[in-house]
Amino acid sequence: MKAKKECLLLLSSPAAADALLMAPLKPWKTAPLLLAVLCLGFLLLQLMPASFIRHPIHDASDTWTSVNPKRSSVGVASSLLLDDISQNLSEKEQGMKAMSMIASQGALGTNGKISEETMTPGAHIFLCTDDMDIRPLIVVINSTIINSREPHQIHFHIVAPEKGHMDWLIKLKTWFPDVNIDLVRLETDLQLVSRHISFRSDSKAREELASPYNFLPFYLPHIFKQFERIIYLDSDVVVKGDIQELNQLDLEGKAVAAVEDCSQMFKIYFNFDLLTAILEKERRDISWLPYKLIEPNTCIFNRGVLLIDVKRWIHENLTEAIEWWMGKFREAEKPLYKYGLSQPPFLLALYRKYKKLEVTWNVRGLGRNEFSEIEREYMKTVLSKKPARRPFLAPLADGAKVLHFNGKYKPWKRNRLSHPNSQPVSLCGLKAIDCAELWWHYLSPVADASLKPIDKYGLRTDSNEASQRTQLLNDTAELL
Ligand SMILES: *[C@@H]1O[C@H](CO)[C@@H](O)[C@H](O)[C@H]1NC(C)=O
Ligand SMILES: *[C@@H]1O[C@H](CO)[C@@H](O)[C@H](O)[C@H]1NC(C)=O
Ligand SMILES: *[C@@H]1O[C@H](CO)[C@@H](O)[C@H](O)[C@H]1NC(C)=O
Ligand SMILES: *[C@@H]1O[C@H](CO)[C@@H](O)[C@H](O)[C@H]1NC(C)=O
Repeated sequence: MKAKKECLLLLSSPAAADALLMAPLKPWKTAPLLLAVLCLGFLLLQLMPASFIRHPIHDASDTWTSVNPKRSSVGVASSLLLDDISQNLSEKEQGMKAMSMIASQGALGTNGKISEETMTPGAHIFLCTDDMDIRPLIVVINSTIINSREPHQIHFHIVAPEKGHMDWLIKLKTWFPDVNIDLVRLETDLQLVSRHISFRSDSKAREELASPYNFLPFYLPHIFKQFERIIYLDSDVVVKGDIQELNQLDLEGKAVAAVEDCSQMFKIYFNFDLLTAILEKERRDISWLPYKLIEPNTCIFNRGVLLIDVKRWIHENLTEAIEWWMGKFREAEKPLYKYGLSQPPFLLALYRKYKKLEVTWNVRGLGRNEFSEIEREYMKTVLSKKPARRPFLAPLADGAKVLHFNGKYKPWKRNRLSHPNSQPVSLCGLKAIDCAELWWHYLSPVADASLKPIDKYGLRTDSNEASQRTQLLNDTAELL
C-alpha cells in the first residue's frame, strides 16, 4: 500500500491521491452483462464458416491456409467448376493462341515455342470437328480410355470452333474428370486452311466435306511441332484396341502410317488423263512429285486413322504437296478428282510414301449402306461369294482395333434402338450384328439423353426414321 501511494504521488498532487484512496470501492453493475454478451459473441463466431484451415495430418509446416469462401458452400459448386475451367482454359488458350500466331505468321516452317506441359510423353490424339453434336467425341474418348492399358498416358486434343467452347469443356470434364483433354481453337490457322479449299459442284463430293476441319489433319504437324508423334482420328470412330500400341509402332522412316484399302483403286478417284498430263509437265521440277507416273491400279488408303511423325512430315513437305494438288484441282477445267475433297490430294501427296498399317486399325465403311460394284468384286475374293449390294458388310469388325463409321449414315443421327422394321445400315462381324450397336455400346442412355443436341423447338431431337429410310433409297454413289 505504501509503494502504491508513493507511485501515485509521483503522478498527481498529494490531495488528489488522498481523495482517491479514501473513496469507497463501488461495484461495476454492468460488468456481468458485458461478460455475458462477450461470451455469446464468441459462441456465435463458432457458427461462422471457417476462413482458414490447416490439415491436421498432411500439413507438416503447421501453416494456416485461407479458405476460398466459395469452396465451402455447396450452392456455388457449379460456378466454382466453371471458374476453375475458365482459369485453366485461359492459360491454355493463351498458349495455343501464341502457337497459332507463330504458325500463321511464318506461314509454315517457323519454330513454334515449346510449352513444357505439352511435352508430356504418351499418346497424343487429335480430333478435329465442327459438328455441334458432342456425342461422337464422347464415344471416341470413352472407347479409347476403356480399351487402354494406360489411360493416364493418353492425351486428347480437340480442335473445335469457338462457339460453345466452354460448354463443351464442361461436358467433357463432367463425363471424364480423370482424362487429359484439351480443347484447342485455331481461328487464324483455319482461315489459312480455307484459302486452299475449293468446292466444285462437278466433282460429285458432298459439300459438307469442304469444311476446313476436314483439312486440318494435314496442318497439325506444323501447328503442333512440340510433339514427336501425332495420332489423328476421325470423329466417327470407336477405338477398340490399345492406342499406345499404335503410338509405339515402328514407322520405318516413313512420315505417316495409314491403312491400305484395296477395295478402291486410285483410278476411281482421279481423271488419269489430266493427272498424267500434270505429272509429265511438272515432275522434273518439283521435288515431292513422284518421279514415275502414278499407277491407276494402286490401292487407296484411308485418312481416318493416321500416325504421323511430325519432323518427317515437315521434312518431306507433305502439307505443301497437298496444297499444291488442291491448287491443281482448283485451276483445272475438268475436276482432277471426284468423290472427295480432302482424301484425293492426300492420296497423291503420299503416293507410295506411307507405311501400311494392319487393316484392323481402320475397319471402315460402317456408315455406308451399300457396296459399290468394284467392292463387291473385291469382296468376292475375301468372302468367296459376291455379296448383295445391300447392306454393307464388315466381316473384319470382330477383330477391329478401330471401327470407322465413315459414310452418310452416322449411328448418332439415328435412334438408339432402331425401329424393328428398319434395316440396319451395315452389318458387322461374323454374327452380322447391326454395326450401329457397336457405337451405342460406348454411350450410356443417360449421357445420350443429356448430350443430344436440342432442336429449335427446345426438344431433344430424335431423327426421323422415315426420312432416314427415304434417304437410304435415295442414295447416290457414295464412296467416302
Ligand atoms: C486446372 O489445372 C490444374 C493444374 O494444371 C489442375 O490440377 C486442376 O484440376 C484443373 N482444374 C480443372 C477444373 O480442370
Ligand atoms: C522440301 O522443300 C524444300 C524447299 O522448297 C526443299 O529444299 C527440299 O528439298 C524439299 N524436301 C523434299 C524431301 O522434297
Ligand atoms: C462408356 O462405355 C461404357 C462401356 O459400354 C459404358 O458403360 C459407359 O456408360 C460409357 N460412358 C458414357 C459417358 O457414356
Ligand atoms: C434425294 O436426292 C435428290 C437429288 O439427288 C436430293 O435433292 C434430295 O434432297 C435427296 N433426298 C434425300 C432425302 O436425301
